[in-house]
Amino acid sequence: LADGPLRGRRVLVTSGPTHEPIDPVRYIANRSSGAQGTAIAHALSALGAEVVFVTGPASVPPPEGVKVVRVETAQEMLAAVEAALPVEAAVFAAAVADWHVAGASQSKLKKTKGGLPKLEFAENPDILARVSQMTAGRPGLVIGFAAETDDVVENATAKRARKGCDWIVANDVGHGTGIMGGTENAVTLIRAEDAETWPRMPKVEVAQKLAERIAKALLDGH
Ligand code: C5P
Repeated sequence: LADGPLRGRRVLVTSGPTHEPIDPVRYIANRSSGAQGTAIAHALSALGAEVVFVTGPASVPPPEGVKVVRVETAQEMLAAVEAALPVEAAVFAAAVADWHVAGASQSKLKKTKGGLPKLEFAENPDILARVSQMTAGRPGLVIGFAAETDDVVENATAKRARKGCDWIVANDVGHGTGIMGGTENAVTLIRAEDAETWPRMPKVEVAQKLAERIAKALLDGH
């Protein structure tokens, strides 16, 4: 473990997409690469934190030196997050699917003449909201992400209130930004008291800056 300001502090990071099965060979997913969550876990670990990294099937490898818990679905991610608690800070960078396929088939769906499969969806648990609204054992600092395409700060500010988390990292993933799946990010850190827009920078630098803020909050108590 690295020596640093977060030495001995236990933190949780979720990352990557989730895969929601349709049948044993097919699934619904999203374009999250896991790059930002991976960089955050790495940055926290570099400051000495003991990091539990709960990751969906990401396209980038997990960082070294963290406890990696691999999951596939949103339900599994929730279970892994609950099992990782208590932690002092939790960063929810995963792009969790909002829905899963209700009654996913246990056997491979077949092509049938003249028929197309009909998929029905059911809501997934909102992991960030659940942890934010815990009455006992809530992490002292809960951080969510808000990937928005329009009215980024307004929507993310509303999301912070709705979910009940402490901070929201808002990013503009609009068409043409190249942010989702890219190596750079342009974020606004929204807290109860202020909103701070950072210049566009590599995701690794966003992660370092965020990890420093987390360390300051844990050490100073704000
Ligand atoms: O509601 P929305 O998906 O825009 O919220 C994004 C934030 O909520 C992210 O921090 C994401 O990790 C978290 N989230 C979650 N569980 C869900 C959906 C989103 O933890 N089911």
